[in-house]
Amino acid sequence: MNDKKSFLAGAGANTRLAHIGNDPSDYHGFVNPPVVHASTVLFPNARTMETRAQKYTYGTRGTPTTDALCEAIDELEGSAGTILVPSGLAAVTVPFLAFLAAGDHALIVDSVYFPTRHFCDTMLKRLGVSVDYYDPMIGAGIESLIKPNTKLVHTEAPGSNTFEMQDISAISAVAHRHGCVVTMDNTWATPLYFKPLDHGVDISIHASTKYPSGHSDILLGTVSANAAHWEQLKEANITLGICASPDDSYQILRGLRTMGVRLDRHQESTLNIARWLEEREDVARVLHPALPSFPGHELWKRDFAGSSGIFSFVLKTDSPDRFKAKAHAFLDALSLFGLGYSWGGFESLALHVGLSDRKVCKAPSEGPVLRLQIGLEDVADIRKDIEAGLAAAKSM
Ligand SMILES: Cc1ncc(COP(=O)(O)O)c(C=O)c1O
Repeated sequence: MNDKKSFLAGAGANTRLAHIGNDPSDYHGFVNPPVVHASTVLFPNARTMETRAQKYTYGTRGTPTTDALCEAIDELEGSAGTILVPSGLAAVTVPFLAFLAAGDHALIVDSVYFPTRHFCDTMLKRLGVSVDYYDPMIGAGIESLIKPNTKLVHTEAPGSNTFEMQDISAISAVAHRHGCVVTMDNTWATPLYFKPLDHGVDISIHASTKYPSGHSDILLGTVSANAAHWEQLKEANITLGICASPDDSYQILRGLRTMGVRLDRHQESTLNIARWLEEREDVARVLHPALPSFPGHELWKRDFAGSSGIFSFVLKTDSPDRFKAKAHAFLDALSLFGLGYSWGGFESLALHVGLSDRKVCKAPSEGPVLRLQIGLEDVADIRKDIEAGLAAAKSM
């Protein structure tokens, strides 16, 4: 057989997703890798045990199953190494613990995923790390917020719930001039639509719970580092003893095979719904970076290769004391959409976004913000359900 690795290096995204990770010839030709359940690994003799001179030494340090997934993620991210952790939230907190110490300061984007903020305001604070939140649109202006003890700049683009874009390259360049580590929660785009390490980010974070899983049944996070930061990340992971289960790792590798085609469909249906909502009288604004009307659209167009399946819209409402009632009327009239957290799965979901945690990016004033995760159902049915929601909101 000819060299598959060099063929894949020049192949398209879906071809690579179908073949990266494990090598079937390692396991008798079976297409998928085995699910290795492991704590203990045996050594052939005392000398090998003493020097740990074999590929696998203990379950927390990797197995053929977790390695297959890590190799696939490295391939997608262009990273020197990837760790697996049990949730997307752990994929944020583990690198923070790896690169921050008492007395340090961190800059966190204000449109951050709320549990990340909670971790910073509680546990990081207790460990002696101070935090400031910055405007996602700050770009190179972040320089004015950097202090002598600033060690980490955390980015997330688009931002959670309100989808603000960030100039990741400009922020990374400034942060590096001041010796800071740059982390990015890239869950929305996946490495198919944005590759953080190519834009100067040191640590790329992914809640694989979303698109790589795709079926709302697995929790897992990946953290991928460039060469300069890999050893420190890996060391922290081993020290903390945080690792992912073989069954979940296997399922995420399985999900990656179809992630590209699922994302194409999410993208197409979501844009269809977003554009349609934008035309409606009862919608004040649609918060989706791929729409030319969105303030961060030019950044999205410059840096991103696509858009995924989650966005928000602002439901036009005359008075703030009716925001909640209108939002609930919309949600309660939905039949197809589930009311639930998370996203990236096959099914459509909706929720009323709470933005009271924001310090810099204030909530829209024209009405409640409703977040939609557009699933793989037929667009006509998705529209019909949203129409029912909008009609209920209008009639109240
Ligand atoms: C942007 C973002 N990052 C991280 C996470 C956390 O992922 P998990 O639910 O696996 O902890 C989420 C979950 O909603 C998210 O939206």
